[in-house]
Amino acid sequence: MKSWLGVSTGFCAFIVGMAMVVPATQAGDISKGKAAEFILATAKAARTVFVKDIVAKAKAGGVKPNEDWAKADHSIMLPAQFVKAVGSKITDFELGLVGTSPLYASNAPKTDAEKKALAELASGKAKVVTFEDGGQTIGMSADFAIVDGCADCHNKHPKTAKTDWKKGDFMGAIVVRMK
Ligand code: HEC
Repeated sequence: MKSWLGVSTGFCAFIVGMAMVVPATQAGDISKGKAAEFILATAKAARTVFVKDIVAKAKAGGVKPNEDWAKADHSIMLPAQFVKAVGSKITDFELGLVGTSPLYASNAPKTDAEKKALAELASGKAKVVTFEDGGQTIGMSADFAIVDGCADCHNKHPKTAKTDWKKGDFMGAIVVRMK
């Protein structure tokens, strides 16, 4: 038993060691486009958990997403604010949202290349796109109205130019911009 433990401990140390060494050696081989894809996948998963688990559970307890959440009682941040808040804690790259009919101009695509990429995502041909633009690597991951609440809130927002969003619509993208 002892020797089995000895072997297994050594083996575990080897695995942990490899786990640390392998990514370190491979890190140099990961393209910026691939890195953008990983970041988008992580941001998107976190956002989905926020919407489907955290917001849903909070609502059941009488706490709702509210743009003025910081000042309002029984409120938590909106999904978009959640993504932007995470982005604001990151200094190495930009993480945010772009919209096809954005509530705020700051969430509009910034360049023609970004507009083109958004159109490509809207066409449904791709779910994620990465490209080089003005010295930056940009990644975009399609963002859909995954629950009724997405459409309802955007339809009713005082700044909205579009009032017929519905569940399932393509609304824009999570965007990562890397130097
Ligand atoms: C309770 C209201 C509310 C809900 C629910 C909501 N949003 Fe938004 N959304 C906003 C507001 C307000 C902004 C702008 C936030 C900012 O930039 O500070 C925004 C921003 C966005 C943007 C960036 C473009 C723009 O319109 O400015 C996208 C894309 C977006 N939301 C998609 C979604 C999706 C998809 C969902 C559902 C998973 C969702 N929203 C749920 C209110 C809401």
